[in-house]
Amino acid sequence: MKSTKDTYVDAIRGNDSSLKLEDKEKQLEIINDFVIELFSKVTIDEIVWCIAKKVIARLGFVDCVVYLYDEAENVFIQKAAHGPKNPIEFDIKNPIKIAIGEGIVGSVAKSRKGEIVSDTRLDARYVIDDDYRLSEIAVPIYHEDQVIAVIDSEHPEVDFYTPDHLELLKSIAAISATKIMHAKAMGRIQEYQKNLELEVTKKTQELQNTISKLKKSNEDLESFAYAASHDLQEPIRTIASYLQLIKKREKNLSVESGEFIDFAVDGSIRMRRLLEGLLAYSKLKKIDEEFEVICMDHILEVIKANLYTQIQETQAKISVNNLGKIVGDKTQILQLFQNLISNAIKFRKKDEAPVIEISMIEKPKLKVFKIKDQGIGIDTSFYEKIFSLFSRLNTIDKFSGSGIGLALCKKIVENHNGEIDLKSEINKGTTFFISLPVI
Ligand SMILES: Nc1ncnc2c1ncn2[C@@H]1O[C@H](COP(=O)(O)OP(=O)(O)OP(=O)(O)O)[C@@H](O)[C@H]1O
Ligand SMILES: [Mg+2]
Repeated sequence: MKSTKDTYVDAIRGNDSSLKLEDKEKQLEIINDFVIELFSKVTIDEIVWCIAKKVIARLGFVDCVVYLYDEAENVFIQKAAHGPKNPIEFDIKNPIKIAIGEGIVGSVAKSRKGEIVSDTRLDARYVIDDDYRLSEIAVPIYHEDQVIAVIDSEHPEVDFYTPDHLELLKSIAAISATKIMHAKAMGRIQEYQKNLELEVTKKTQELQNTISKLKKSNEDLESFAYAASHDLQEPIRTIASYLQLIKKREKNLSVESGEFIDFAVDGSIRMRRLLEGLLAYSKLKKIDEEFEVICMDHILEVIKANLYTQIQETQAKISVNNLGKIVGDKTQILQLFQNLISNAIKFRKKDEAPVIEISMIEKPKLKVFKIKDQGIGIDTSFYEKIFSLFSRLNTIDKFSGSGIGLALCKKIVENHNGEIDLKSEINKGTTFFISLPVI
């Protein structure tokens, strides 16, 4: 007579298909091995094949199929098998579909209760798959009230399956349910991540396209501004010269008419300045090859010489504190600081000599230049507006200008990958901050 151990060993080898599981210890061992095996499984496919190959095969069942619920079709589809339905590797022969309620598999899916059918000839629900077999066991794998899969095994002999088999399969089903739900959730997360990545790639592409379009339209606008400001200068000059000629030649011109001509000439001069400013603005390009090491103290000397008359007339005091060196376009950097210093002189308080301090502080990877005046100041609400083309906060009779200087400054700073900012208080003064990256 065979010992329990020998019987079990036979069962593992599949030698004795009529094995009845009597040994609870062996049941636990199978469950234990299954749990360990299940640890390494990630996808639902891997899990159902693990049930078919690592549990059913060891029980000595001649046939077993695991059906998985397919949400899209609302049916159970054969996904993994052991026995005749699994001729090679992880392949399943003619996988069939079963609707909920159909056959013994569909019934247990509906009732969520495992069943043993001792004699299939007496059960009208029995559906023939690959062969006619006389007994069947079917156990649902479910989570809460949702059936995920069904483990189904058939045997050629009548009354093959025991309550022990049913209990063991129920345990396996309960363990598998959690793992399958986890795999499903992981699958959904992965899909979500994939969609998210696709969406990010799509949006990045769209953004790049928009940037290219914007760049192109900016270039178009700049070349238009250049052409317009360049070509309009000549007719303006002609209008002014002919008006002046009329005034000179016309002896009987009334005083009033003479004044009107002067206004018109003034207007055309202002318009020419605006066009010159616009031309200068549209000509400002970022040309990295023209970048060089610039000694800022020397630049300040040149600026002071350029603004000599303005400084003398206003008695401006300009202090410069060791500004160091930067890398950039020399002409543009000179233009930037000259515009800011000329503004600091221009927007002084009435009857007060301007006092201007220019300094620099080094920060990690940055040089921050400060141009500080004690002039009329700027209201916080205009901090952004003043950098737009032609925007001025004062009337022309109080302060001359075209409103181009700061727009130029902003573009120059951007050409150098820097930032321009300000802090100001009405009647106390303004400080402009220029941050330039250290190259
Ligand atoms: N240091 C400053 N103090 C007070 N207000 C200023 C100062 N700098 C600029 N502003 C204000 O910002 C406006 C825009 O300055 P921006 O240099 O662009 O133009 P502008 O000096 O009027 O003309 P332009 O520079 O073309 O001759 C000025 O008109 C002025 O109202
Ligand atoms: Mg200015």
